[in-house]
Amino acid sequence: MSILIKNGRIISAADDYHADILIEGETISAIGRNLDAPRAKVIDAKGKLVFPGGIDPHVHLDMPFMGTFSSDDYESGTRAALHGGTTMVIDFVLQTQGKSLYSALREWQKKSVGKALGDYSYHIAVTDFNESTRKELKDLIEKEGITSFKTFMAYKGALMIDDGQMVDLMQEVKKLGGMVTVHATNGDMIDKLIAKHRSEGKLSPLYHYLSQPEITEAEASGRFVDMAYYTDVPAYIVHLTCEGALNQVRNAAKRNQKVFVETCIQYLLLDASLYEKDFEGAKWVMSPPLRQKKDQETLWAGINQGLVQVVATDHCPFMWEQKLMGKEDFSKIPNGHPAIENRIELLYSEGVHTGKISLNKFVEVSSTNAAKIFGMYPRKGCIAVGSDADIVIFDPHATHKLSAKTHQMNVDYSGYEGWEITGKCETVLLRGQVAIEQGEVRVEKGYGQFIKRGKVSKVV
Ligand code: URP
Ligand code: ZN
Ligand code: ZN
Repeated sequence: MSILIKNGRIISAADDYHADILIEGETISAIGRNLDAPRAKVIDAKGKLVFPGGIDPHVHLDMPFMGTFSSDDYESGTRAALHGGTTMVIDFVLQTQGKSLYSALREWQKKSVGKALGDYSYHIAVTDFNESTRKELKDLIEKEGITSFKTFMAYKGALMIDDGQMVDLMQEVKKLGGMVTVHATNGDMIDKLIAKHRSEGKLSPLYHYLSQPEITEAEASGRFVDMAYYTDVPAYIVHLTCEGALNQVRNAAKRNQKVFVETCIQYLLLDASLYEKDFEGAKWVMSPPLRQKKDQETLWAGINQGLVQVVATDHCPFMWEQKLMGKEDFSKIPNGHPAIENRIELLYSEGVHTGKISLNKFVEVSSTNAAKIFGMYPRKGCIAVGSDADIVIFDPHATHKLSAKTHQMNVDYSGYEGWEITGKCETVLLRGQVAIEQGEVRVEKGYGQFIKRGKVSKVV
């Protein structure tokens, strides 16, 4: 079946023009004025924006964490993502310490194959780097198309690796053409502060925030950047939140080192005052925590300065019942926040509509840069002849309210309850199929495909 999208305003990371798009099979076959395809289904996009499907390179679906599992699985999570204009996600496979990377990969394949509605890939979190895991990296990159390896500088005992392992991993990944990504916060400092607050009987969600001050993130970010400089590995910092951490990246840029930076939608829009709402603050208990208004300004500026290349979500939802695990002790609140469905619309409404970023920048940070950085461009992340027809048709004037009552994510609260936003994903296509139309999902469970990725590019 072919589809002809007529009269849309096409926005890419670089361009803004009116044209029609012809889709045949899974890919775009023509872009031009007054295209004609008599047998095609026609979608009239007059007055609408047409841009590449969003790519969210930081989500946690069905993830075992802090004694429970994130509440969206591959089915509900990718369905919610599609509703919100995100056609592809990259999830995290977590190695269990003492076990192989491949055994973790097999576990995640069971969670995802045949279940996802949207396309997906994995980063592999290396939590125990040793001689046998070293040998697995080549096949993961070359046979499986998994080219990015996540590290944690926090969560000691389960996920954290030390600096020696980090440097070893970086050297190996550099040799093989991959990328090392990081959760950059100083785990030892944070653990010390958590213990101090607990011993003083300071147990509310506010102390989650106070246990992870800005310096814990700035210090670890600087250390990671230095190790990446030493090993010359392509490096990417996930969920960067604050001025102190971004300054470390600025310093790296001065010595002509390129470190990619991701922030998340919540760090641009929400601030730490939410932790003052007693236990309700648990809704926003995530790591790193929300920061100050001055950090939001730094992050928006960082996007415009090209220092921050990606806006992701770190979608890691937990039901309220699960958050209550930490009712008496903030350190037991499962860390994470739901946003997979809201990212694109929030970024448009609060970024483009308010004039903070341009439409081109919006496309760059929500789709194109992730495709480039993670080895999927130009198959993903752009509207071009030959690319996958992953397309959002967006009404820039529609207003609507965000609420847990109407969202698709499998979580019983919203971090943005009652927010009135401008702009709505109207129709979403994934590999040439209409995936979302008139608020309904049109693809089946299992339609989503695992996307093999190429070696890391330095083009962004
Ligand atoms: O709070 C968070 N971010 N939960 C998910 C795990 C992580 O650190 O990304
Ligand atoms: Zn993290
Ligand atoms: Zn995360």
